Amino acid sequence: MGKIVVVGGNKLEGSIRVNGAKNTVLPILAATLLNAGENIIHDCPALKDVSIMIRILEFLGCKVKREDNTIIVDSTNINNYKIPDDLMREMRSSVILMGPIISRRGKASLSYPGGCEIGHRPIDLHLKALRQLGVKIEEGHGYIHCETAGVVSNDINLSFPSVGATENVMLAAVMAEGTTVVRNVAKEPEIWDLQNYLNAMGGRISGAGTSVLVIEGVKQLKKRVEHTLISDRIVAATYLIAAAITKGYIELTNANAEHLQAVLAVLRETGCKIYVKGDSIILYSNGIYPMDLIRTLPYPGFPTDSQAMMCSLLSLAEGTSIISETIFENRFKHIEELIRMGADIKVDGRVAVIRGVKKLTGANVEASDLRGGAALVLAGLAAEGTTSVSNIYHIDRGYERIEEKLKQLGANIKRQVSQHCFERKDI
Ligand code: EPZ
Repeated sequence: MGKIVVVGGNKLEGSIRVNGAKNTVLPILAATLLNAGENIIHDCPALKDVSIMIRILEFLGCKVKREDNTIIVDSTNINNYKIPDDLMREMRSSVILMGPIISRRGKASLSYPGGCEIGHRPIDLHLKALRQLGVKIEEGHGYIHCETAGVVSNDINLSFPSVGATENVMLAAVMAEGTTVVRNVAKEPEIWDLQNYLNAMGGRISGAGTSVLVIEGVKQLKKRVEHTLISDRIVAATYLIAAAITKGYIELTNANAEHLQAVLAVLRETGCKIYVKGDSIILYSNGIYPMDLIRTLPYPGFPTDSQAMMCSLLSLAEGTSIISETIFENRFKHIEELIRMGADIKVDGRVAVIRGVKKLTGANVEASDLRGGAALVLAGLAAEGTTSVSNIYHIDRGYERIEEKLKQLGANIKRQVSQHCFERKDI
């Protein structure tokens, strides 16, 4: 397993282009199963999670090829409806394949996705909603068996605006008999991008970005769809915070400030100067003020996926900040590692009290999840001395060659690949 080694102290300065969003390419790749045709998706990031999703699509019978940042999926022949345990365990978010497989094959069988590093990650909302769409679901021996004589429309109310459950319902109901109304849905930009993809396929969905989705079932979908992904708002937030923590300057291109409003508001309060012009965001930073309280919330609130990076930044603020993680029950694992670097943070349940320190010092630290790992790299950029971040496979799930992008901005950073690491390079 590789390491990322950072020698701290360099101010980041420069411009980078934000890649297409991980959390939109995954549901859209799942959607490619629906039309039994050709799907051309542009601006796809080269991420571990994308490679895993492609392996699952190929396992189900799809033909997939990648041409630079374009992925082409031919879903004409699907000869399977089961997702094997090993692939499910590699990426729990493959649970959103349930909807399209059921819609296409009338049945689906997959193992429980299980929890992950940030929490138990139940799927009860997915299963309850699918049952309301006429899907018979049996659970046993760690597997979920779904069967239906045909997906039927319904009036569904999600008890929590779950991103994944919202996506599964959209994917299952797009060809259902009748019109489905889903209330208290997730409003994340990725839902809006999935709605656009499904409508480009010939679906009739409206309401993305609001609390209510209306899904008018259609009988047929187009055999060829082409789409360009929205940019990755969490990757954008990560690089903005990287510039802020090094008191540097950055210009992001292909960024969508509208999708980042909660993060931009907090960064401005911590003292960053931020200018937005079209699809570029410019940030200058020369000081870090504390934040009385940041509470992570469903979109458009402050994103839980930016919480870890914000912990790193506020570790160096001139005062005490509080972060409340309301979405996941175990998303503070990076804090132990930040403390190793000299941060002064107390955690009580889902609340972290961060007393700013004058400096962080480089240390050997371990990534335990995707965003926590990125947070440790950012802390290393500002720390005095050398920081070595291990278990970087977590980071590669969501960031395209993070060390190359940061090096482009002036960081003293490199990747140390261990001898035994082998990744499939053809996708
Ligand atoms: C998506 O996960 C994202 N992943 C996550 O990003 C993100 O943190 C999360 O949404 C919240 O914004 C992808 O899009 C691939 P949820 P998802 O269902 O869909 C509970 C990253 O770093 N819940 O909105 O799994 C759940 O336990 C990743 O890129 C249930 O209780 O998130 C959690 O507490 C991490 N029952 C809360 O809802 C359910 O059936 C939010 O989960 C489903 C969810």
